[in-house]
Amino acid sequence: MSRLDVTETFHSITFPGHLHTQDSLNYATNFKFQDTDTVIVTYPKSGTTWMQEIITLVLSKGDPTIAQTQPNWARAPWLEQYYSPDVLNASKGPRIITTHLPYRLLAPALKQSKAKVIYVARNLKDVCVSFYHFHNVAKFLPDPGTFSEFLNAFLEGSVHYGSWFDHVKGWTGHSKDIQNFLYVTYEEMWQDLHGALQKVSRFLQFPLTEDELILAQKHCSFNSMKENAMVNYTLIPQEIMDHSKGKFMRKGKVGDWKNIFTEEQSFLVDDVYSSQMADSSLKFLWEG
Ligand code: A3P
Repeated sequence: MSRLDVTETFHSITFPGHLHTQDSLNYATNFKFQDTDTVIVTYPKSGTTWMQEIITLVLSKGDPTIAQTQPNWARAPWLEQYYSPDVLNASKGPRIITTHLPYRLLAPALKQSKAKVIYVARNLKDVCVSFYHFHNVAKFLPDPGTFSEFLNAFLEGSVHYGSWFDHVKGWTGHSKDIQNFLYVTYEEMWQDLHGALQKVSRFLQFPLTEDELILAQKHCSFNSMKENAMVNYTLIPQEIMDHSKGKFMRKGKVGDWKNIFTEEQSFLVDDVYSSQMADSSLKFLWEG
């Protein structure tokens, strides 16, 4: 095991120890949210970085200066990662905060807060493929083994950050308990980025003109973000991310799972999905 590949366990969920400590996780679960905060919540690989860019560009009215000069973790830090107190204490004005924590861990801190929460979800098959590739690049994640082994661990919820099902059901099932909640899917951002930008701008009560929306859309397209060092993770040194093994901005597609899943694996996920989601009213765009 390399020095980077250490695990931090918190409330039965494992996290990369390279970025998380007991103190940083406790800091997050006891965090004092402000009503002016915007909180991006995702299970990893669901469009986190994309939403960070969308919000940055909405708030800058399409001006790319901030998006192209400040790394995403400095303008929208992950609350549970060890550096976030420094970033948040130094920040002036309304804060953009990112988190991968499940609802049950963040609910007490969010209770009674008027912070605006944006939950982004993505088809679990595409999440699983993206997460698998990322495990091969990020040296702070464990060796994922074969895709089939990783898929089983993912469905069991024994991967870092816990179960996709618990995450999605926890947050969407309690959306009514959160005063300001917006649910957005990766698939809808992909299908209609302009519409997604409008939706986010309305939710943030930050209206943009059509020209500003078009500018924002241009800078948060996959091709623009792929070239933007502030979000494509090329700033991360080779010892932490092995860039020869793949890119963070990998494909940015809906349905890439079809290139890697066997028919049997797809049926397996469908089966687990139906039983795990039986108690949820959530319907995804990709379910038809
Ligand atoms: P792929 O690995 O399928 O390409 P996260 O930010 O939550 O870690 O998610 C990363 C995934 O979002 C990657 O998926 C990445 O390519 C995709 N992504 C990031 N920005 C995107 C954009 N502008 N358009 C489409 N996909 C994007």
